Parts: sequence; C-alpha cells; structure tokens
Amino acid sequence: MVILGLNYAFHDSTACLVRDGELVIAIEEERLTRDKHTAAFPQRAIDRCLKEAGLTYEDIDHVAVAFDPRLDLGRKALYPLRHPRALKGFASHEWRTVVQKPRYLRRWMAQTWPNPAQRPRLHAVGHHMAHVAGSFFICPWEEAALLSLDGSGEWATGLIGQGRGTDVEVFRESYFPMSLGSVYEAATEFCGFQPNYDEGKTMGLAPLGDPERFIDAARDTVWVEPDGAVRVDLGWFDYPDWKGHRYGEKFVRVFGQPRRKGEEFQQHHLDVAAAFQQVMEERGLELAGILRRWTDHRHLVVAGGVALNSVMNGRLVREAGFDDIYVMPAAGDNGTAIGAAYWVWNRELGRPRNFVHMDPYIGNGYDDAAIQAVLAECKLPAERDEDVVGTAARLLHEGKIIGWFQGRMEIGPRALGNRSILADPTRADTKDRVNAEVKHREAYRPFAPSVPAEHKEKWFETEVEAPFMLKVCDVRPEAREQIPAVTHVDGSARLQTVSKETNPRYHELLERFGELSGIPVVLNTSFNIMGEPMVESPWDAIRCFYSTGLDALVLGDYVLTK
Ligand SMILES: [Fe+2]
Repeated sequence: MVILGLNYAFHDSTACLVRDGELVIAIEEERLTRDKHTAAFPQRAIDRCLKEAGLTYEDIDHVAVAFDPRLDLGRKALYPLRHPRALKGFASHEWRTVVQKPRYLRRWMAQTWPNPAQRPRLHAVGHHMAHVAGSFFICPWEEAALLSLDGSGEWATGLIGQGRGTDVEVFRESYFPMSLGSVYEAATEFCGFQPNYDEGKTMGLAPLGDPERFIDAARDTVWVEPDGAVRVDLGWFDYPDWKGHRYGEKFVRVFGQPRRKGEEFQQHHLDVAAAFQQVMEERGLELAGILRRWTDHRHLVVAGGVALNSVMNGRLVREAGFDDIYVMPAAGDNGTAIGAAYWVWNRELGRPRNFVHMDPYIGNGYDDAAIQAVLAECKLPAERDEDVVGTAARLLHEGKIIGWFQGRMEIGPRALGNRSILADPTRADTKDRVNAEVKHREAYRPFAPSVPAEHKEKWFETEVEAPFMLKVCDVRPEAREQIPAVTHVDGSARLQTVSKETNPRYHELLERFGELSGIPVVLNTSFNIMGEPMVESPWDAIRCFYSTGLDALVLGDYVLTK
C-alpha cells in the first residue's frame, strides 16, 4: 500500500511516500527547484521520491493532499460581509486555493493516470488535521495532548485536543482572523522582515530587546479564552483586510515607526520583537495549561508553523507541566504532506500506528559513485579520505569553516548534520567569521550547537532530547564562555542533540572534535548560499563551496580544501 502525500496549499510544497505505514522518503520542492518556500506543484519532488524509492506512478494507491477545499465554506462566505475591505484579497486567495489548485490537481491526476480504473484515490485532508496527524500519529507516544497553531489553514488557525492511538478529539478550534500566528507575522513585518517566512528572525531578535516596555499593549492584542479559543483585538491589525500591511494604524501609533527592510534596527523594533515573543510564549503556555487541566496526558504534541518557535517550545518543555513535547522536524506546512499521508493511513484506511518519526534524514541522498562522478565532471581532484571524520574534526579544531554533506537530506528548515556548515564554537570570533565569510546573515542572529545526546546535560540545562533543533534551552552558566559562538545574548541556545543510532557519522564527528578540543559541541548552521534553500546535491554543495568563504568541503568520504 503506497500513499503519496502532498503539500501544495500555500507554501513549502512537499511530497512524501508512505509505504505500508512507513515513511520512505520526503522531499521539499524548493530543494530541487532552488526556489525557497516555493508554492509550486511539487512535481520534481514527486518524481524524485518515486525514483529514490524504486517505485512508479502505477505503484501509488492513494494520493493525500493537505488541504480540503470543502472545509469551512459557510464561515468563509460570511467573511467579506463582515470585512468588506477584504473582498478583493480574500476572493483572489480563495480562487487560488479553493478553485485553481484543486482543479490543477484533478487535471494532474487525470493526465498522470489516464485510465480512471487505475487512478489512485484522491483524499483531501484538512490542513490542521494534517498538521496534527504528521506529528501525533508518528510521535513516540500512544496518547498525548495536542496543540496546533499557524497563520491559517483552510480557515482554522489552530486547535487544542487530545490523541489516543489513532483517534483525535478536538476540544476547540480557532478561526481566521483570530490567529496567534498572524499576530506574530504582523510583528515580524513591523521589524522589517518578510511575514510568513522570517518569524525565526523575530524570535532571534527578541532577546536583544526589553519586553517590559510594550508587554502590556502586546498582551492586549491577542489572548486565550478559558475555553481555549484564541481571540485577537482586530483594531491593532490590518491583516484581516488581506491587503497592505499586516499591522494597523493603532499598532504604529503605539509601537512606533515600522522598520523598512535593510534599515538599521531602532530600540523600539527590538522591544516589539521581545514583547510579541513573550506574548507568543505566554499564550502557548496558557493553551498548554488548559490541556494540562482538561486531560491527564504526560506528553504534549505541538504542530503547525508556530511550533517552529523553538523558544516557545523550550518554555513548554520547562513550564507546561508535561514530561516532554514532540514537534516534528518540518512542523510548518512542509510537514503537512507527511501528515496528510498518515491521516489516510491511520484514519481513512484504519491502520494501526506502526511508525515513529525520530529520523529527520528522510530526503534523497548521493552514494559514493554519484559523488565521485560529480567530482570527476567538475575536474576536482579529490582522493577518498579513509578517516574523513578525523580529518573534519581536525579541520574544525584548526578553526576552519567546513561544508558537511553526508547521507540523506534532512526534512524541515533546520540543517541537522547532513547538509550543514560546521565550525568550532569555542572561538569567540567564529560567529562573526561564519557570518562575514559564508552566511552573510544578520549579525545578531544566533548559531545553533550540536552535541552528542549523552553529553547534553554537561553543557546545557535540559533533560530532554532535542533531535530536531526545536527546543531552545539555556547553556549552563559555567559553559557559556567556553562555547561563545553558539550562546545567544540571553544565554540560550537552539540545541540539537545527536544520537549515535540516528546519525552515527555526525555523532562520531562531535566526539572526535571533543577529543581534540575538550568540548564535543559543534556550531551547526544550514548549508546554503544566502537566500537560497539548503544544498540538495553535490553540485549545489560545490557551487556554495567555491562562491563563499568556506575553507573545506566534505562530500561523503571526499575532502576538498582551499
Ligand atoms: Fe499550516
């Protein structure tokens, strides 16, 4: 039984294959087209998934799409009556998502399988159900409290509920424009970033500001009702109008002039980021608190784009009263391709749970022969290194910045040690060097550390695993000076714990680096040229290597240096 899961709703188009309940492969279309966050139909990702899995279109039994155009039509129909200024933007959005995209999909199905008798069944899965299924049905726990939050799906912006086995009970849904994600998007736009994409930059900016200055006003913009519904005071925002800015006149009057892209940050931009980050954390904790009171689950599953707010997740781990939380590595819309497939497998086909998603390396890979062929084609004389891990550890210890390309590609926005740029975090100048020579990104943004899972507590204040870099914790005070390049200004770090079972080569690299430096922690940032998606192929890696200040490139067993 093969299910093709697709996200083709809003952005981060993705395809995956689930065979007999096992997630075989998942690829984001942006990695192949090199168009970051693309909303295009994931044709290349589908073709590559099939090729890598050794399957053909004839093998596909079901196609699961993470958007249901029939959902919430009644609610939507009333919207332009209440928000007449939104009519044009709303109508074009609905035309695109409810008419055009589903029509394209039906035509694609008909062209791909001309014989209706052989055509797979098409399933439209509600967006938030896809978020939930892609997290809960493949999390390590049979029962959990559920929290899903994003900007908006068909019309829902979030839900709270609980999951038992393959049952999902929804306690409360919130609907557009009552959206915690949209409020944070407005703050992101106010700070001069691209809303709906750059929320991580707002999160990184927040520790530089003082939340107290604006916290009372920020709290007034969005709150949680006792029944778990998100409420927004729309007087602060223009996003319900679907045109112009997401923040409104009152927002600017109270918080000051927005920053334009490329302008210097002023103190009030930092303070707004800090205040809205704190509000996001507080509202997340309140929703989790309701789930804690209403259920007796020991674990919380957090899904949706808001679940990429790893600082909020860190507080949920520490303060919400659950033993641990699970956030899948592609908690944004990319992961809904996986969720749609599992909704069909576990709910519509009624199959029991049989897969736990703890391995983020589920993309395509390049074997030794493929890497050799690329090196030969590029006339790059690289010898196989019999101790490539030792060589990489030595290069890192010498202060070199290396591109590290290994095995199968990660899913989700974080590089987790297979398409990563790595550097020595113990040197004070590493962060500035990685920024100036390779990444060219905003100087304030922190870089993340990777540590072997078994050593995490020696360096970081955490008791839980963070394999997907989605749970921020504090660096132990005594360790902060030892790993300055991965310690943010507030003493926190967006930690990745690496297990020997999931990524033995990366785990060994951390250990070998630790033998040389005394500290088994490596700075890990995504392997890409600024503004581009993460590298997918050896060609991408070589292009990035020679067009940035990377000192070395490790491609599988081959090492290139400058
Ligand atoms: Fe979403």
